[in-house]
Amino acid sequence: MSVEIDHLFAEAEPQRYVLHTRYLNEQMVRVLKTIGFDRAYQRGKGQYLYDREGLQYLDLLSGWGVFALGRNHPVLADALKKVLDGDLPNLVQMDVSALAGVLAERLLFQVPHLEKVFFANSGTESVEASLKFARAATGRAGIVYCSHAFHGLTYGSLSVIGDDIFRSGFGPLLPGCVEVPFNDVAALERALASKTIAAFIVEPIQGKGVTMPTDDYLRSALELCRKYGTLFIADEVQTGLGRTGRFLACEHWGIEPDIVLLSKSLSGGHVPVGAVLTRKWIFDKVFDRMDRAVVHGSTFSKNDLAMAAGLATLEVIQSEALMQNAERTGARLVATFERMIGRHELVKDVRGKGLMIGIEFGAPRSLKLKASWNLLETANSGLFCQLIVIPLLKEHRILTQVAGHGNHTIKILPPLIISDEDCDWIERSFETVISDAHRVPGAIWSLGKTLVENAARARARG
Ligand SMILES: Cc1ncc(COP(=O)(O)O)c(C=O)c1O
Repeated sequence: MSVEIDHLFAEAEPQRYVLHTRYLNEQMVRVLKTIGFDRAYQRGKGQYLYDREGLQYLDLLSGWGVFALGRNHPVLADALKKVLDGDLPNLVQMDVSALAGVLAERLLFQVPHLEKVFFANSGTESVEASLKFARAATGRAGIVYCSHAFHGLTYGSLSVIGDDIFRSGFGPLLPGCVEVPFNDVAALERALASKTIAAFIVEPIQGKGVTMPTDDYLRSALELCRKYGTLFIADEVQTGLGRTGRFLACEHWGIEPDIVLLSKSLSGGHVPVGAVLTRKWIFDKVFDRMDRAVVHGSTFSKNDLAMAAGLATLEVIQSEALMQNAERTGARLVATFERMIGRHELVKDVRGKGLMIGIEFGAPRSLKLKASWNLLETANSGLFCQLIVIPLLKEHRILTQVAGHGNHTIKILPPLIISDEDCDWIERSFETVISDAHRVPGAIWSLGKTLVENAARARARG
């Protein structure tokens, strides 16, 4: 007997919105239909998705950053098949995993100033572990985090993200968490000076909006942490594993955090995994006696498929020189987008490193455009970016997303394998759509009017 997954997929695919409306998140179905993202993807390979008609799409979302290698990379598929075909002694629990040992050794080879690894099942679980470790290691309760940070949606992580939309309705959260503005060294010092703060948690480049640290921010923050006995946690769940052109984004600023968090790309996009890389003394404070050997952990972490996915991912990042490709193609795209700033008045800023790039739009100067912009912004702040994202998909078959709620930044997070031809595709498409957005009246602003009217109708219906 076998479960005919391929047949199940083929049968269910045309019904997926019905199924999700009935059994899962109906609001997500409404969102997809409203913005015309209801495509019928049938297949994913590398940096491309293919729909029912066989049309090829370029994926600049990478499943929110998990497909560094692209989808279904043959080395990854081979590693996963070998785990299953090999009848490995997975998750014995009252033993230790051989593959976890090798993956830990290889991760630490890339981050040589750290000495221990704790595996988890996701980004947010890695954050949770790091917060617990920091409290246990320092004997302090406080956690400092940055405005606009994103670290995940379980309670510990939710308590240290700087975005109320995710928190609303879920309180109370973890006590002792203090928000400081990103890039504000003085505010950080004020928060740390109480000497009650276990850890400062920060994304080296903030994912929401692709906000860059100022040149000396991370180094100064690390020095302050040292001065006040606070641990420095670098959340590299999104930036890590080569996305910014270095193994860790922290390397751009030459800093050595006490704890580094990885996840997303380490999974190869297929088997959820997270990793907490720490100093030995921190680890030893948590796992300090035999009866505390399992004081923190999770049933599925260190499972062989996840470990094999991690090993295959590291192998491909090296053998295909993906960090170098991310650096080179990213620099090319940033240069192209930067050239748009003077030419297109709606383009305000371009930020990023490697293949983590944000293109920020903002209020125009010319009167005609300003009137349309204001109309849209009054109805729904941040809606303008949808006017770029929607035609990018509809007319140019490029999948992107707005970088966050009420945000004017489009983030691109492509697989690290993209080629120069893909960059041509991206540049051509963005140029056309952004040029069109500067034409009033024009198709893009008509789309804006339709979206505003639809939103008003939806609100009236409740
Ligand atoms: C920087 C960062 N940390 C943590 C997370 C949470 O990861 P997960 O969604 O796997 O829980 C994310 C997810 O986007 C992230 O970008």
